[in-house]
Amino acid sequence: MPIQAPPPPPPFIQLHHEDRAALRAELVAGLLQIPARIAPKFLYDALGSRLFDAITELPEYYPTRTEASIFRQHGAGMARVVPHGAILLDLGAGSCVKAARLFPVLRPSAYVAIDISVEYLRDTLQQLQKQHPALAMMGLGMDFSARFALGAEVADWLADGPAAQAPRVVFYPGSSIGNFNPGEALALLQQAHAVCRSGGAGGGLLIGVDRLKPRAVLEPAYDDALGVTAAFNRNLLLNVNRVLGADFAPAAWQHVGLFNEQASRIEMHLQATTRQAVTWAGGERVFEPGARVHTESSYKWQPEAFEALLTQAGFARGHHWTDAQGWFSVFWAPA
Ligand code: AVJ
Repeated sequence: MPIQAPPPPPPFIQLHHEDRAALRAELVAGLLQIPARIAPKFLYDALGSRLFDAITELPEYYPTRTEASIFRQHGAGMARVVPHGAILLDLGAGSCVKAARLFPVLRPSAYVAIDISVEYLRDTLQQLQKQHPALAMMGLGMDFSARFALGAEVADWLADGPAAQAPRVVFYPGSSIGNFNPGEALALLQQAHAVCRSGGAGGGLLIGVDRLKPRAVLEPAYDDALGVTAAFNRNLLLNVNRVLGADFAPAAWQHVGLFNEQASRIEMHLQATTRQAVTWAGGERVFEPGARVHTESSYKWQPEAFEALLTQAGFARGHHWTDAQGWFSVFWAPA
């Protein structure tokens, strides 16, 4: 038997160029707002990404394992309605493990992994290509939260490949859609709809969404006994210190994770325990004891409300799977 040559590494297109000046301007604008806010993307530096992985292992944090159980339980049902041979577009691919579990179920003809964190993605994709040498793969470094569209380079790669006329399936698991307020979520879903429609017939969106449930379940998931979520939240201050050259003292800030029932969302804040004067090049803000910085919202959806949002974004009625407790939903929305 001839020894097979290793597959060439997947092509990698970098659409996202980290603009330090723009990041700093965004941080300063948020810090000067009343109340102050810092965008959740600043939670995910190298340490923050590892702390998030640890969160998914916590007994209180139900979303990751509940969603995984839905995919395990209903894989065959999904394979019946989601087209085979599709181009699988993975939003926020990260370690690509969730998509890779779907390869045997959905048998895609091409895999496009999209993530803002490009270095991490490049490595994971190279490993994945070795395990699936026959599957065409591409990495795409892009901040799709600002705007999701496939540029000319991606369109060219798809046009040249074996999957030119294949349907496009956008995969957006993990309830990351919950980080967007309803208006922003609608905009992203509309963009996803346009991407699906630009491929062959039969495309659509496969998305995981966390559901509304009792406060007694929600709040511990975002304020766990070990303090991992607290560390995850406070680590954002270390990242801000690095990006902005600020001097936040993480030990002086307390993690707050609470359910805002009115807005149907979990909110994470950092609360100053004592008076804090925080400075950065060209600026300062004084936080009185008890003052908060809002760092993340995580919206919880009723399935009917999310279905209405999908319809508003242009999708047709599709399928909905849930777990035994009705805690988490996976939707298939045909474009
Ligand atoms: C990755 C955005 C889905 O909202 O549950 C986990 C992030 N924040 N614990 C979520 C998160 C605190 C997570 N998402």
